[in-house]
Amino acid sequence: MKRFILSILTLLFFVVVPARALENGMALTPPLGWNSWNRFGCDVSEKLIKEMADAMVTSGMKDAGYQYVVIDDCWQVRRDDQGNIVPDPERFPSGIKALGDYIHSKGLKFGIYSDAGTGTCQNRPGSRGYEFQDARQYAAWGVDYLKYDWCNHSTQEVKSSYAIMRDALKAAGRPIVFSLCDWGLEEPWKWGADIGNLWRTTEDITDCWDCTGLAGLGVMQILDLEVDLGRFAGPGHWNDPDMLEVGNPGLSLEESRAHFSLWCMLAAPLMAGNDLRTMPPEIREILTNPEVIAVDQDPLGRQAVKARDYGDTEVWRKELSGHSAAYGLLNRSDTPKEISVPLRSAKQVRDLWKHQDLRLSADGVLRANVPAHAVVMVKVVRE
Ligand code: GLA
Repeated sequence: MKRFILSILTLLFFVVVPARALENGMALTPPLGWNSWNRFGCDVSEKLIKEMADAMVTSGMKDAGYQYVVIDDCWQVRRDDQGNIVPDPERFPSGIKALGDYIHSKGLKFGIYSDAGTGTCQNRPGSRGYEFQDARQYAAWGVDYLKYDWCNHSTQEVKSSYAIMRDALKAAGRPIVFSLCDWGLEEPWKWGADIGNLWRTTEDITDCWDCTGLAGLGVMQILDLEVDLGRFAGPGHWNDPDMLEVGNPGLSLEESRAHFSLWCMLAAPLMAGNDLRTMPPEIREILTNPEVIAVDQDPLGRQAVKARDYGDTEVWRKELSGHSAAYGLLNRSDTPKEISVPLRSAKQVRDLWKHQDLRLSADGVLRANVPAHAVVMVKVVRE
């Protein structure tokens, strides 16, 4: 009888107690790295990924804090008779373990991509039904980061589908940052913290300042979708407004700088999405600006709020540790604008792109001339 009651209690425990929290202790600040998708799509290979790892070191990005080198879709072609996932043998002739070893030998970390459905968004095999086997394989390959997409999910329930892979990664025994990618469809900010370290909040980004279309959302469209989401994010669980388009052809230099500023204000994961091997110095300077990255990586982990909305211009404020805050003064329009912010209690105001302290006018107001499609970003230390 005692045994019977015990088994009923055990059963009840598993049925009633909700899915366990993630608690993997990872991504206490937003992850930084590079991902192949935005620039290269399906054109991935071990040669490309190795060259990108090399460039991450030689460009100074590694020193600036970038860690993860992530292969997105299309590295996988089929499953073998035992259900093991098979990498493209022509594009990855040395195998994925060797590639992971190479990335690790550079002092970097290795990321990979799969999908919670039966197929990826490019119709390569997904992980549905193979979650534990795939997670063991990733751990054996030395994977440190998994981006997990949501194509071909049919009638699957989103939260439980992602929770299976969370549990599989845990069972595989290797610390792996878990990046959820349901494009914000099922409001992952409401349940994502129990399951992953970051979750996409929107459809795909494209390298365009202000546009919608089949190719994806522009920088401004994505920004508008982040406005109310700050309260859901924090250390270990981040809103992900998608990977960076900094340095890709559709954005001007000013737009790239503004995009990077805004993503740092949002405490977003910073996954570069350009060709690191050929980027010009001015793009490298954007991606490696230590003062702007420090805002993204601030240990408080607060996401910026939109403090003022004047239509064409906006003021975003991000609380920082150390009695300070960052302000992003955004000009969305096609002509230069003056944007002013009252900063009466400021002890120090620093322009994070010019790398110099600013003087406020006698009335304690910062008046900045902001070029078209640009952001002036300052850090304010309060009295
Ligand atoms: C989806 C994701 C993208 C990318 C592609 C790959 O669209 O949102 O970020 O991973 O799939 O096919």
